[in-house]
Amino acid sequence: MSKFITFEGMDGAGKSTHLAWFADTLRQRGLDVVVTREPGGTPLGEQLREMLLNQTMSMGTEALLMFAARMEHIEQLIKPALQAGKWVISDRFSDASFAYQGAGRGMDWDKLTQLEQWVHADLQPDLTLFFDVPVEVARERLSNNVSLDRFEQEQSDFFERVRGGYHQRVQQNPQRYAVIDAAQSMAEVMRQLEEIVTSI
Ligand code: TYD
Repeated sequence: MSKFITFEGMDGAGKSTHLAWFADTLRQRGLDVVVTREPGGTPLGEQLREMLLNQTMSMGTEALLMFAARMEHIEQLIKPALQAGKWVISDRFSDASFAYQGAGRGMDWDKLTQLEQWVHADLQPDLTLFFDVPVEVARERLSNNVSLDRFEQEQSDFFERVRGGYHQRVQQNPQRYAVIDAAQSMAEVMRQLEEIVTSI
């Protein structure tokens, strides 16, 4: 049985490193795993990503482009892969739109819910790994990066709201999430991930 798994968390939470390990571990257990990301995952989606991460735009445009990229991603990649029996792991999905565009930028939550309904009423992740970390820890980790994109350049108050947005999504639908305390050491986070791999 195929599964759709998403990784979420604010910039600097460490999710991308853990995602690579998680996908390799599933592959070692014989699963056919496709790793993808948002915004992106298709040629058009990657072009939209380039704009979204670098160009100034209104928050409505930003939300619509995130969902436009997502529509393409679902139709071109996610659904065909799931139908072919593959496991799909996406570095971010709609929870990020609620956290960043909704809570972070202040885009109306109901409008985002409408977009979510339009774009993927029939699809939700089977499991979302949410890497939760205090804003100061995430900021500290990001400070090693040489170039920061438009989101990573935001201030701490933006990220406090983003974190709150993720918590709100988890509260609305707790059974879909595994919340990982990403402030812990790499080894401890991996131990938690191993438990998750075993359970699925
Ligand atoms: P990210 O996934 O952190 O990639 P990298 O590790 O290469 O920096 O970057 C994507 C950025 O896009 C991230 O800052 C969050 C933002 N984003 C949104 O604001 N809304 C969304 O719906 C998605 C999918 C991403």
